[in-house]
Amino acid sequence: MKTLVLVFHPHLEKSQVNRKLMDAANETGDVTVVDEYAAYPDFRINVEHEQRLIETHDRIVLQFPFYWYSSPALLKQWEDDVIKAGWAYGGGRALEGKEFMLSVSTGSPADSYTREGSHVRTMDELLSPFETTFRHTHATYLKPFLIQGVATSTEEQIDEAVSKYPAALIG
Ligand SMILES: Cc1cc2nc3c(=O)[nH]c(=O)nc-3n(C[C@H](O)[C@H](O)[C@H](O)COP(=O)(O)O)c2cc1C
Repeated sequence: MKTLVLVFHPHLEKSQVNRKLMDAANETGDVTVVDEYAAYPDFRINVEHEQRLIETHDRIVLQFPFYWYSSPALLKQWEDDVIKAGWAYGGGRALEGKEFMLSVSTGSPADSYTREGSHVRTMDELLSPFETTFRHTHATYLKPFLIQGVATSTEEQIDEAVSKYPAALIG
């Protein structure tokens, strides 16, 4: 199985978590890792290149920090540009049989993403546009890999969470 990790982080140089996740993915030696903001600083996405990347991998991981209950803007642009009619839907079935997994870090802790918690909505609810997009395009939507409570975590806690990433990528 070939795994592709597309990283959408506008400030990786300041990252506490996503940088480490990228390094862990690269260290597996068997995963293609792409820094999408470095590839497309002007948001002009090479659609054919991205589509070929997806076609040549089996599991596609979309990795990003949670920004305002969603993803950084480049991932939305990527979805709008890359998941095209005639290729992924509307006559195309390029994503059929592909596995998609979200890898998301959140500043707030897991228990704040509950009915009783400060954000009221669950992560599954907030990530449902992604789930619905991949279901609609006949892909398999895997359980997201979440690292939560980053704002109040120690470096050891982050390292412990990151250590589980390689198994999630290739397992
Ligand atoms: C613009 C912006 C919006 C954010 N929105 C949220 C949010 O909605 N929920 C949350 O839990 N954390 C939010 N955060 C915190 C980030 O998710 C957190 O800093 C990030 O996941 C940590 O990963 P990193 O160290 O790789 O940057 C936000 C941060 C920024 C800069």
